[in-house]
Amino acid sequence: MIITIDGPAAAGKGTLAQRLAEKYRLAYFDTGMIYRAVGLELLNSGQSPDDAAAATEAAAELTFAKMLRLSRQPEFRSAAGGQAASKVAALPEVRKILLKMQQDFALNPKSPEGENMDGVVYDGRDTGTVVCPGADIKFFITASPEVRAMRRHKEYLQKGMASDYNDVLAQTKERDQRDSSRASAPLKPAEDAVIIDTSDMDIAEVFAEACRIIDAKCFN
Ligand code: DC
Repeated sequence: MIITIDGPAAAGKGTLAQRLAEKYRLAYFDTGMIYRAVGLELLNSGQSPDDAAAATEAAAELTFAKMLRLSRQPEFRSAAGGQAASKVAALPEVRKILLKMQQDFALNPKSPEGENMDGVVYDGRDTGTVVCPGADIKFFITASPEVRAMRRHKEYLQKGMASDYNDVLAQTKERDQRDSSRASAPLKPAEDAVIIDTSDMDIAEVFAEACRIIDAKCFN
């Protein structure tokens, strides 16, 4: 079974994806990690995430192992890391190179411990539209920019990172704008996606709603 969960930053995709993966014995692929890894490679080497040639080279050299190694750096999940990821993700050549790595993951899905799994939950921006257009279930998870910025702000503070709500809100809107307006695979719901607005829902409610939809579609 392939489930895709797309939507803007901090809409709650990751938490939902991990819970669904656990419940339905699926591997989990957070596809934002590949763009974060490419962006961080550039920042680490003093290059600009707007440098298309450098980003294309970093994308071509990216492996799963390198991505996991980079993900252990504190900057990986920082606001600067998110901005760099969003910039490299707007480059069509970078997206083209990284597409196969994402699609190949479904051929032999494994848990982080190396166990064989029954499918994949993908989370990202274009997993239902471009990466897995034939997915069994597609969700588009969204929430207002204010609610998402507050969630991200609290997450940064919990991690002991400095954060200012107004800055996070401005960055959230900037990323939304870039992710939705880029020419290549812009952020938008797949035509057959189920849209869930989580602005007034907690994670337990979102999870229950997603399970109800999956069970009705796949297990009835
Ligand atoms: O989900 P995230 O915040 O980790 O994603 C970081 C950036 O990567 C996001 O701003 C846009 C990009 N991205 C993308 O373009 N396509 C995906 N499938 C996943 C992420």
